Amino acid sequence: MMTILETRSAPPSAPASRHFDFGAMAAEDRYRLLTAAVLPRPIAWVTSASPAGEINAAPYSFFNVFGSDRPVVALGVLARPERPKDTAANIRATAEFVVNLVPYELAEAMNVTCVDAPAGVDELDLAGLDRGERRGRASAHRSLPGRVRVPADP
Ligand SMILES: Cc1cc2nc3c(=O)[nH]c(=O)nc-3n(C[C@H](O)[C@H](O)[C@H](O)COP(=O)(O)O)c2cc1C
Repeated sequence: MMTILETRSAPPSAPASRHFDFGAMAAEDRYRLLTAAVLPRPIAWVTSASPAGEINAAPYSFFNVFGSDRPVVALGVLARPERPKDTAANIRATAEFVVNLVPYELAEAMNVTCVDAPAGVDELDLAGLDRGERRGRASAHRSLPGRVRVPADP
């Protein structure tokens, strides 16, 4: 159950709140309601790599921070019946990912990377973007999956 309180001025006859019974709603309507009601949401533009090193990029708006020490972020990667999203598969396999925050000038490119490309296809290439150099070391064995390079970066 979700209750939405009216925040705008409504006529006195209008109810001050509306109740939604998730159990009685179609999945698509639940999605529409939740994504329209919980705003704004930051977008995590997640880059990750397969165990073979193939880079993957996709936007995730079910994203937020849950702690700073240790740093904890959460991503809501929706389940798919046929196969997991590449982001989920890569993170499960490597335990590594990079959250890129989307600069305004790359909003269109970010949208391109949400395409459901086959595993192994680098969505940054599809969007005409370069990868930045790999920065930092997540473990003794691997470097972090490439961040998105903003064209204006040096
Ligand atoms: C702005 C935006 C936000 C998105 N947020 C999510 C999200 O929070 N969770 C999700 O599962 N898919 C989300 N998507 C859809 C995924 O980006 C899309 O399914 C993508 O193909 C997944 O790619 P991957 O298989 O490479 O991980 C979003 C798409 C866009 C354009």
